[in-house]
Amino acid sequence: MLTTKINNRRYLGNKYRLLPFITETIASECGNFDTFADIFAGTGAVSSAYVDKKLITNDLLYSNYLCHIAWFSDETFDEAKVKKYIEFFNSNIPYEENYMTKNFSDTYFSRSVCSKIGFIREYIEKEFNLKKINTKERALLITSLLYGLDKIANTCGHYDAYRKNAPLTDELILALPEPNTHLKHNECYNCDTNELVKKIYADIVYIDPPYNSRQYSDAYHLVENIARWEKPAVFGVARKMDRKTIKSKYCTHSAPEAFSRLIKDIKAKYIVVSYNNMAQKGNERSNARISDKEILNTLQSKGTVKTFSEKLKAFTTGKSEHLDNEERLFVCKCN
Ligand SMILES: C[S@@+](CC[C@H](N)C(=O)[O-])C[C@H]1O[C@@H](n2cnc3c(N)ncnc32)[C@H](O)[C@@H]1O
Repeated sequence: MLTTKINNRRYLGNKYRLLPFITETIASECGNFDTFADIFAGTGAVSSAYVDKKLITNDLLYSNYLCHIAWFSDETFDEAKVKKYIEFFNSNIPYEENYMTKNFSDTYFSRSVCSKIGFIREYIEKEFNLKKINTKERALLITSLLYGLDKIANTCGHYDAYRKNAPLTDELILALPEPNTHLKHNECYNCDTNELVKKIYADIVYIDPPYNSRQYSDAYHLVENIARWEKPAVFGVARKMDRKTIKSKYCTHSAPEAFSRLIKDIKAKYIVVSYNNMAQKGNERSNARISDKEILNTLQSKGTVKTFSEKLKAFTTGKSEHLDNEERLFVCKCN
């Protein structure tokens, strides 16, 4: 059976390519540790480097939370059963009208792919409600669907818009998320990070917030919509649902204040922060929301701070180029 890996997905700001930089810095600065909290976890790429530790993952988006359960929850699951469902979903499923065809036909996906996505997502939910699959199996199947649809979405990687008049494929192929073995009793959360840190302790807390005003709930509204499957009304050309409850403060002018409260509430030996250096270089939308000075001042109030950097190719929209973009890691040894 076709399998898929955690990095087989397009996601703004995902750190998969930066893992050597991040893991080497953490190894040299923090030494041995037992628990790792990835509290803006996104795809979970950084956590995937620490599956031998106890993990705490969190993200505001339910779609990411489901993927974290699929990759990191130690709940037992029946792999043969999951494979059977995936085989069925990859078979010839008759066309039907459903929430997806009514709202998204010939936008991000063809009409026939919309039919398939709607059918599969509904089927997974029914099987779960009938207790035929458990939480981990449900998460694995939804993750398989989300990764499969990302491969063929008519976008440049996010769902702010779809490409007009681009050819749409009718082929949606699902693959089995390659399970991690020997997982610890990990904890996955789906809440505002500022609330979460009041309740957890970890040896290392890794922080990778959004850098600029681009809300992840805007960029991934359709992935989130399919993951939640509450079938809300959608609006405008981009067919977005209401996203009030999943907007991040870290994309607004109150980001420095939110960051400062977050750091204050963290209980850890080390705090490691990823942030890039685009502040004041790009346009207003891509400008970093927290300045270097604010990051340093905030972290220094918690302990001793060292900064490390690595050059990388930035995301651009074509309107502006940032070839000298640098990703930084701030490592704070807490007092
Ligand atoms: C830069 S991305 C993280 C990328 C991740 N390190 C990876 O490798 O995929 C930032 C993430 O923070 C999440 N986020 C934004 N604000 C949040 C908040 N207040 N609480 C929890 N998660 C939040 C976003 O949904 C997004 O997935």
